[in-house]
Amino acid sequence: MIFVTGGAGFIGSNFVLDWLSQSSEQVLNLDKLTYAGNLQNLASLDGNSSHIFTCGDIGDSALVSSLLREHQPRAVLNFAAESHVDRSIDGPEDFVQTNIVGTFRLLEEVRSYWNQLEGSPKQDFRFLHISTDEVYGSLSKDDPAFMETHRYEPNSPYSASKAASDHMVRAYHQTYGLPVLTTNCSNNYGPYHFPEKLIPLTIVNALASKLLPVYGDGQQVRDWLYVNDHCSAIRRVLEAGKTGEVYNVGGWNEKTNLIIVHSVCALLNELQPRADGKDYNEQITYVKDRLGHDRRYAIDASKIERELGWKPAETFETGIRKTVEWYLCNLDWVAHVQSGAYRDWVQNHYAGNAQ
Ligand code: NAD
Ligand code: DAU
Repeated sequence: MIFVTGGAGFIGSNFVLDWLSQSSEQVLNLDKLTYAGNLQNLASLDGNSSHIFTCGDIGDSALVSSLLREHQPRAVLNFAAESHVDRSIDGPEDFVQTNIVGTFRLLEEVRSYWNQLEGSPKQDFRFLHISTDEVYGSLSKDDPAFMETHRYEPNSPYSASKAASDHMVRAYHQTYGLPVLTTNCSNNYGPYHFPEKLIPLTIVNALASKLLPVYGDGQQVRDWLYVNDHCSAIRRVLEAGKTGEVYNVGGWNEKTNLIIVHSVCALLNELQPRADGKDYNEQITYVKDRLGHDRRYAIDASKIERELGWKPAETFETGIRKTVEWYLCNLDWVAHVQSGAYRDWVQNHYAGNAQ
């Protein structure tokens, strides 16, 4: 069995669904079900005994210890995190608690569990930490893309907390010999993406005839990867990655935010035209920039391609079409996740932000 944390969130739930679609190996899923965690993402697994869900915190040492001892997983994959940069700017506390303290406590329990294993279960055990390209900071227009050796220069409370967790993971390998692997991935998009992030927010706002907020000049660059490609990279790293190593994951898909919003609008114009026949682009509005906004991220994925033979299956064009189609077919999921708490946060965040 594998033990996944944060498996009810965007990437975690895609990973669990993907894993169980091609493996009979059980998944133990520990998720705190914060605003970003949603069991509806996993509804298709109802009644499937290969998926064992527990609601709880990675920082709850007693719970993690008892889960490890009861289920004896061969690997722990740590997806659990507070993940939204804007929320980390509004209130960093939860980011410190989950991303730093939570990861530390999880590592401690995993170390204790791993220490009492023997023989091949000990040798083959893996702790795979899912991290982000944001730990490397921001690139200028002509800088080469981030390699694994790029220095850490996190700029937001979110990326600083992820950087701290990456360092703890590394330290547990160097100091205690824990067999760890770390992946640093670029921006994901796809099904079950919470509509506080740029792509799903643009889709749901467009369909609800709301404004499409673009921060600053919209020329910031992100490197986009379809979520299933991230899942296949994680599977590959778990299977063949060298312990103690870091693998950057990305799809060589750098795009400005404005191009992303225009692409979504173009697909919606085609698939679900506005009742008044106008272009969804007319809903774009420029709003106040994010504090400390990183200008450009770009991932050099040559190490994982060369050493592990991984390649993304989707281009941006195929992935974004699948994504928009998924949202159009799953408006009930959108309505479900737009709870009162979500609405309050979005309203506060964008209030008075017009440029
Ligand atoms: P998400 O916010 O959608 O999901 C996070 C999940 O973790 C939620 O289900 C939440 O309930 C759970 N969680 C939060 N705190 C917890 C705690 N203390 N204990 C247990 N569960 C907890 O995030 P995501 O976008 O799916 O990101 C998953 C991981 O991938 C994160 O570690 C993130 O840093 C990393 N990552 C994300 C992206 C991206 O583009 N979304 C890119 C690279 C890396
Ligand atoms: O790079 C990987 C990271 O990608 C992950 O580690 C994070 O967990 C994930 O949230 C994502 O971070 P970003 O800040 O890049 O994603 P977000 O969707 O919030 O924003 C993408 C870009 O779009 C960013 O430059 C800010 C901009 N933006 C975002 C929102 C929500 C807007 O212009 N308007 C918006 O309303």
